[in-house]
Amino acid sequence: MKKIAVLTSGGDSPAMNAAIRAVVRIGIENEVQVFGVHRGFNGLINGEIFEMDRHSVSDIIQRGGTILRTARSEEFRTPEGRQKALNVIKVLKIDGIIVIGGDGSFRGAKELSDLGIPTVGIPGTIDNDLPYTDYTVGFDTALNTAIDAINKIRDTSSSHERVSVIEVMGRNCGDLALFSGIAGGAEQVIVPEKKFTIEDICENIFKGKRNGKLHNIIILAEGVGGAQKLAKSIEEITGIETRATVLGYIQRGGSPSAFDRILASRMGSKAVKVLLEGKTARLIGIKANKIIDIDIKEALDLKSCFNEELYKLSVDLSN
Ligand code: F6P
Repeated sequence: MKKIAVLTSGGDSPAMNAAIRAVVRIGIENEVQVFGVHRGFNGLINGEIFEMDRHSVSDIIQRGGTILRTARSEEFRTPEGRQKALNVIKVLKIDGIIVIGGDGSFRGAKELSDLGIPTVGIPGTIDNDLPYTDYTVGFDTALNTAIDAINKIRDTSSSHERVSVIEVMGRNCGDLALFSGIAGGAEQVIVPEKKFTIEDICENIFKGKRNGKLHNIIILAEGVGGAQKLAKSIEEITGIETRATVLGYIQRGGSPSAFDRILASRMGSKAVKVLLEGKTARLIGIKANKIIDIDIKEALDLKSCFNEELYKLSVDLSN
């Protein structure tokens, strides 16, 4: 393996840059030429590829976003698009590709590997929605951003003795909401994995009032959605002033947490080593604090397993 390329694809996540940095530096350390690809799979199709040296990844470990930029490539979903990308890879004699992204990007990585290009994926998404790994790169930072916002909303919520519905991202996965709820001391967490009724939510609010709570923080996962509508229904039923906040894209940006920087560095290093071992169609993950690699198909076929124990804890702690 003489030449490898790295790209970021799908929604960006904090510490993608730290992963790129690790790929470049560990690659060079192992006498491999490392190339960066701009704008995800689109860059592979259009040949937006350039060589990276150690210096090209200086001063990026603390930066959010991705220096390689990112895209969700429609063209790569077509056989013609993939053929164009394959031609570019062949012309440039690239021996292996590292894809940093989420499940959609990993499906792209699998396609590349099916075309005979050794490919390895690093999970970069704030959603933590990949069951094969305990954590994805960016989740911890997004979580801390959400906690910071929840703390601030709680201040004003207490002053006005209001209910606050706070919607966090996470696509169809409730992890960001669940973890935010526990770390943010929320009264209720509403996630797609668990059924809920408006009656239960309102009963819980009344219970909080009876117990002397000044505020009631409800964390809502975007997979359930409808923060404004929910706030309106709560206000109508309980008669308590209720406000909704959708945190949105602030969760995707910002300087990555130490945890994410270290996770990304470990995963970037492992991805290079897995390619050098001659493996293909592998995803890098972390299980019980060990960096692992697993077959892409096996990983993507895993059923999502919601953390029931943590959910129960969130309920017990909010009582
Ligand atoms: O996957 C990351 C994520 O931020 C999700 O939480 C959210 O549903 C989605 O991306 C938003 O995507 P876009 O950047 O295309 O608006």
